Amino acid sequence: MGRSRLERLLSGSTGTPSRGPVTVGLVGLGYWGPNLLRVLHELREVSVSWICDRDLERLQRVADRYPAVTPTCSFEDLLTDPDLDAIVIATPVFSHYALASLSLDAGKHTFVEKPLAPSTAQADDLIARADERGLILMCGLTFLYSPPVREVKRLIDVGDLGEIYFVSSSRVNLGLHQRDISVIWDLGPHDFSILMYWLGEHPSRVNAVGRDSVVPGIADVAFIDLAFPSGVLANVELSWLAPSKLRRMVVVGSEKMVVYDDASPEPVRIFDHGVVYQDPETFGQYQLSYRSGDIVSPRLDVVEPLALELSEFVAAITTDERPSALTRLAREVVRVIERAETTLDAGLRHEGDRTVSRPSIVGG
Ligand SMILES: NC(=O)c1ccc[n+]([C@@H]2O[C@H](COP(=O)([O-])OP(=O)(O)OC[C@H]3O[C@@H](n4cnc5c(N)ncnc54)[C@H](O)[C@@H]3O)[C@@H](O)[C@H]2O)c1
Repeated sequence: MGRSRLERLLSGSTGTPSRGPVTVGLVGLGYWGPNLLRVLHELREVSVSWICDRDLERLQRVADRYPAVTPTCSFEDLLTDPDLDAIVIATPVFSHYALASLSLDAGKHTFVEKPLAPSTAQADDLIARADERGLILMCGLTFLYSPPVREVKRLIDVGDLGEIYFVSSSRVNLGLHQRDISVIWDLGPHDFSILMYWLGEHPSRVNAVGRDSVVPGIADVAFIDLAFPSGVLANVELSWLAPSKLRRMVVVGSEKMVVYDDASPEPVRIFDHGVVYQDPETFGQYQLSYRSGDIVSPRLDVVEPLALELSEFVAAITTDERPSALTRLAREVVRVIERAETTLDAGLRHEGDRTVSRPSIVGG
């Protein structure tokens, strides 16, 4: 996931040695799968040979648009095809571990949509299986390929923002209630991966409150506090219950502040604003000076993050360069979600005298 790799991808050259196209099968054609399919289909280095979904109607609908791709309801067909190099998994979270481990055991390079697995232990197990077999395992953390997110990372790394004090994030909309997972499993991977990528560290403390406002047992709103070893604090608000869609993160540093708003035509705005504390000359007399300078909106590359991400997966296969840092980050995302979930229970709804228990989210 090094910058040089990204630069090569942006300039259209992956550094990939010449060989035939990487053959890919995609499982899961619900909301997200068709996006992956469109992008895979457009990649020069890829030949999509299978699409798979156990919902026949869905499968047929997508197959009609891609007549050269073989449709199947059986995942087994992908596993047993000796000519298939890689499998891309876009099924619900709780199927990730089972499908990804079958894929790796069948010797296929494997791309799993976020989150990597439904538990840290299962994420570790997938990483070990991939390592043992010398296969590429990658998790879809699409926002890490988004130009605004990359730009904020650059600003932090070059020190333009000064010391980072805190980050606040809102990812809310009147969203689709998931039937089997909380809003943290659904939306949290985006914020947690972005935060760890920006800050280059993992949170040492995670605490969440939330509630199941609509469907008993499924948290549809959560407020998560994170503390990082460097002292940076973060607050992440996640919700499927909001009057309007917000995808907004604010980074406050000692020198400058940045607003990253994914829904805005100016997704990154840098505020040369701050407050300077001057040491008191006498006890109790401190002075603050307020700075309110320029607001700059940098020009950003126009590239589709998903195309960069899948190109990186394909390049990793053809160059045999494992995206280890990215996979470790994906594993940490699962750990943070798990930690947040364990602190959630107290906030969930009570119906009469009966406490509504959440279905187990970590397990088989
Ligand atoms: N990167 C992103 O921005 C992003 C956005 C949305 C969803 N996602 C991820 O994509 C994945 C899928 O989410 P979705 O919203 O498309 O889910 P979905 O429920 O809409 O679709 C899942 C599909 O998988 C199929 N399926 C399930 N188990 C199967 C099996 N064993 N064999 C064959 N088909 C099977 C279902 O029939 C369904 O069509 C999730 O991991 C989600 O977190 C990522």
